[in-house]
Amino acid sequence: MWNYICVSGFFLIVSFLYHYYITIQPVSVIQYPKENYDYIVVGAGTAGCVIASRLSESPNTTVLLIEAGGYFNWLTTVPLAAPLMQSTNVDWSYKTESQYYSSRALKNFQQLWPRGKGLGGSGQLNYLVHSFGIADDYKDWPPGWSYADLQPYFRKVSSIMNLPGTEPDGPLLDALIRVDTTLFDGKVTIEKAKNTIKRGGRWSTFNAYLQNAWNRENFHILTDTLVTKILFNNKSIVEGIKVRFGSENFKIINVNRELIVCAGAIGSPHLMMVSGIGPFDQLQSNQVPIIRNIPQIGKNLYDHLNLPMYVNLKMPVSITLRKMQTIAELIKYFIFETGLLATNGIIGNIVRNNSSVVLFGVGSTDEKLLKDVANFKTESFRSLFPSYNNNSWEGFLYLINCMKPRSRGNITLASDSILDPPKIDPAYLEYAEDILCTQDGIRLALEVLNTESFRKLGAKVHLPNIKECRHFHQDYDNPDYSECIIRYAALTGHHPGGTCRMGVDNDSVVDDKLMVNGVKKLRIVDASIIPNPMSGTPNSVIIAIAERAVDIIREN
Ligand SMILES: Cc1cc2nc3c(=O)[nH]c(=O)nc-3n(C[C@H](O)[C@H](O)[C@H](O)COP(=O)(O)OP(=O)(O)OC[C@H]3O[C@@H](n4cnc5c(N)ncnc54)[C@H](O)[C@@H]3O)c2cc1C
Ligand SMILES: *[C@@H]1O[C@H](CO)[C@@H](O)[C@H](O)[C@H]1NC(C)=O
Ligand SMILES: *[C@@H]1O[C@H](CO)[C@@H](O)[C@H](O)[C@H]1NC(C)=O
Ligand SMILES: *[C@@H]1O[C@H](CO)[C@@H](O)[C@H](O)[C@H]1NC(C)=O
Ligand SMILES: *[C@@H]1O[C@H](CO)[C@@H](O)[C@H](O)[C@H]1NC(C)=O
Ligand SMILES: *[C@@H]1O[C@H](CO)[C@@H](O)[C@H](O)[C@H]1NC(C)=O
Ligand SMILES: *[C@@H]1O[C@H](CO)[C@@H](O)[C@H](O)[C@H]1NC(C)=O
Ligand SMILES: *[C@@H]1O[C@H](CO)[C@@H](O)[C@H](O)[C@H]1NC(C)=O
Repeated sequence: MWNYICVSGFFLIVSFLYHYYITIQPVSVIQYPKENYDYIVVGAGTAGCVIASRLSESPNTTVLLIEAGGYFNWLTTVPLAAPLMQSTNVDWSYKTESQYYSSRALKNFQQLWPRGKGLGGSGQLNYLVHSFGIADDYKDWPPGWSYADLQPYFRKVSSIMNLPGTEPDGPLLDALIRVDTTLFDGKVTIEKAKNTIKRGGRWSTFNAYLQNAWNRENFHILTDTLVTKILFNNKSIVEGIKVRFGSENFKIINVNRELIVCAGAIGSPHLMMVSGIGPFDQLQSNQVPIIRNIPQIGKNLYDHLNLPMYVNLKMPVSITLRKMQTIAELIKYFIFETGLLATNGIIGNIVRNNSSVVLFGVGSTDEKLLKDVANFKTESFRSLFPSYNNNSWEGFLYLINCMKPRSRGNITLASDSILDPPKIDPAYLEYAEDILCTQDGIRLALEVLNTESFRKLGAKVHLPNIKECRHFHQDYDNPDYSECIIRYAALTGHHPGGTCRMGVDNDSVVDDKLMVNGVKKLRIVDASIIPNPMSGTPNSVIIAIAERAVDIIREN
């Protein structure tokens, strides 16, 4: 109890100090924008922070970065506290349409899709895993964007973002990397997770890029300002944007060279559509005046879908809520920049073919938090997570996903206003291949549990006893049962993309220079341009894309 009070009190004080420090305004954060800028960047997320910071390196160009939200709270800097910010005012808190093939454990079959709103964007809410995927992921990208072409950018981004850790390897990681991969049929790789953490704190493009740039005279940042529309002249050339600040104030800002939209996988297609570029039928049925018919905007929406599989442990080697909330952990974190709070809890990754198993080393957390951020019904949550009422329960979570799902959904307009969230339908698990590939992941996860290394820890998989799946023999080796559980329990992997696909074919939305086809002075740089899902996490890939985009813009 005392531990708990001290920990809470401490967090409150640090939070207060951080707030005080951060509100000493940087020079670039302004109240009143000028009439025009050379470059305007929409969205200060993972990509937007890179683009705006790099472009403002030339002192004779003027750059404006516009962000719908403000500053993130101090808690977002603590890696393990990331989920606490979901569903608060720094989250767009999107909800998908009710899902037909999946999400049966969730209220109204709806997934919650958090997206960061504020300086840093989703990079300020994410779980900090660093990856560039594999060479094969890039085979459908246009010339100039192959895995080999991007190597210099990967090296640069790694050196900026993926810094050496302060945390010694724990017992779960030891167990994982001791697993003898030659025991499995087929090629299995087991890797320690890489991350973007610096001295125990979140390391995002807000930290690594924007904070280095935000005292430049030629660089302006408008926070708490929503871009409501892109304005075109009658030759489909971008002239400027309309923005909203406060609740009633609108303003038009003009752009000289180009507008760069970095509003993310949902925000970018949404802004395009309300501005009159998108599928003809949708623009027409929502009374949006048409600038350009681009049928593929909002289509090709993909995401990873994670099956959480709980594993009980006999040995006390996992991260539990009780272990987190101790004075010792606070001292470790604040004085030595290490300890449980300094990690994201993600231990490592096991991969075979297109199936991935992430080992998340947290045995117990707050039920209310985890249940609500994922939209679980209470009884579903409790049947999936045996640790739900016990702060010291030992175990870990396997997050099993198919890295290259075939199912594709879409984002469509709910109205002609940017203020109404668009309809998001990821159509998870529409194709049977995605079930098979997830089942391969389940098999892999169980094979790993069956090794000496994990048997020593007393690892035993938890079999959810769920009404909807009870008529099947309860065993993950039974494909009917495992399919039932996958369709029931799997959750968004938080990696949506593809909605403004890059390509050199007629159907693509942006070309190989990331310019929007059929209009002028308009570029998109963010997750929405990535044509296919990555075999891994996208954040560092997006940073590499943004770095290359800056080189392309500078060549002009
Ligand atoms: C909970 C969670 C966990 C994740 N974990 C990982 C992980 O471990 N590793 C990983 O690699 N990836 C992870 N991701 C995904 C990764 O963070 C995103 O793919 C990445 O941040 C997307 O970058 P972006 O630039 O495309 O968009 P964002 O970072 O979302 O930026 C878009 C920005 O635009 C702003 N914006 C949108 N519309 C407007 C408008 N009309 N006017 C003004 N501003 C606007 C938004 O407020 C936001 O700041 C995670 C994501 C989430 C949400
Ligand atoms: C900015 O300065 C660079 C060199 O310092 C020059 O090459 C470039 O043309 C200048 N751009 C503008 C817009 O004046
Ligand atoms: C386009 O706009 C220009 C200047 O605003 C105007 O002179 C011209 O008539 C317009 N053309 C069309 C086809 O509307
Ligand atoms: C992995 O893929 C290869 C090639 O498609 C296939 O031969 C092999 O059976 C797969 N392994 C597993 C375990 O599914
Ligand atoms: C993985 O998925 C990709 C894309 O769907 C496919 O081309 C590839 O053959 C798959 N690999 C294996 C080993 O199944
Ligand atoms: C909580 O979990 C711990 C560790 O597994 C166990 O020792 C303890 O008995 C559990 N408490 C309750 C109330 O179930
Ligand atoms: C969007 O996706 C859903 C689910 O796959 C589908 O039913 C719907 O027809 C799609 N809408 C558009 C406009 O493509
Ligand atoms: C692209 O469009 C052009 C002109 O409309 C057409 O000639 C060409 O065949 C199309 N290419 C593809 C791959 O569809």
